[in-house]
Amino acid sequence: MSLPSAGVPGDPAAVAALLRERAGGRTPRLGIVLGSGLGGLADILQEAVSVPYAEIPGFPTSTVAGHAGRFLVGELEGTTVACMQGRFHLYEGLAPAVIQLPIRTFAALGVEALLLTNAAGSLRAEAGPGSLMLITDHINLMGSNPLVGPNDDAWGERFTGLENAYDQALRSRLLGLAAGLGIHLHEGVYCALLGPVFETPAEIRAYRILGADAVGMSTVPEVIVARHAGLRVAAISAITNLAVGMSEVPVDHAQTLRGAAIAAADLTRLVRAFAGSFASEPGPGA
Ligand code: HPA
Repeated sequence: MSLPSAGVPGDPAAVAALLRERAGGRTPRLGIVLGSGLGGLADILQEAVSVPYAEIPGFPTSTVAGHAGRFLVGELEGTTVACMQGRFHLYEGLAPAVIQLPIRTFAALGVEALLLTNAAGSLRAEAGPGSLMLITDHINLMGSNPLVGPNDDAWGERFTGLENAYDQALRSRLLGLAAGLGIHLHEGVYCALLGPVFETPAEIRAYRILGADAVGMSTVPEVIVARHAGLRVAAISAITNLAVGMSEVPVDHAQTLRGAAIAAADLTRLVRAFAGSFASEPGPGA
């Protein structure tokens, strides 16, 4: 029996139908979520249609500067992609379960993979502002989880495994594409924190001991919902700053946006190539 998702507004199938209708019936093969300061990537989509979150039943509206808040469907290097420009953060005060609707919308659209991007602080001196880090695994220190509450068996099992949460084959593909483009793609563990404050130097020292390579305030809830729904996930951090205590540059939102602007150039090239890699392989219906 499929339980109602208590208190979770919106119907992913209805949102997917709305997007597909606006997109003239196109079926996206790749889902993309654009992080802080990385929303400009949406501008490279061709034949794009967009729907503001405010027009999507059940979607909260994003409250953060640098997050536009719309869902797009468009073409990128011969592949139809669905793209969230602006995401929802738990620090906005949203119930963690609101992450379910947008991510399940990707699943309802039928995407073969989900690429999540974010802005993050680096705990590794050699991965400085403007560089990219492929997420290999995560540590969830948000103190919360978007699947808390009744399980909707129609979407996934009560207990979801997170081994290989960051799909090995997609990671290999991204590393190969980056190498071909001459982009150094660091690899590391992303530590998710609730925010909205940045960390203290003591916290950063503690997270380093725990095994973190980067810190940020997003992505992990989306990975959890995606894995619950069986979606394959890849995630890339745009390193916007060295973590607190590691440099003289103050860590603030302005620095995050500056660092994201530098990283965006390489990220755009890599995302293009990644989208193109789907065009050159047969689709699920082939
Ligand atoms: N900490 C947490 N979140 C972040 C950071 C950081 O240093 N940089 C960008 N997002």
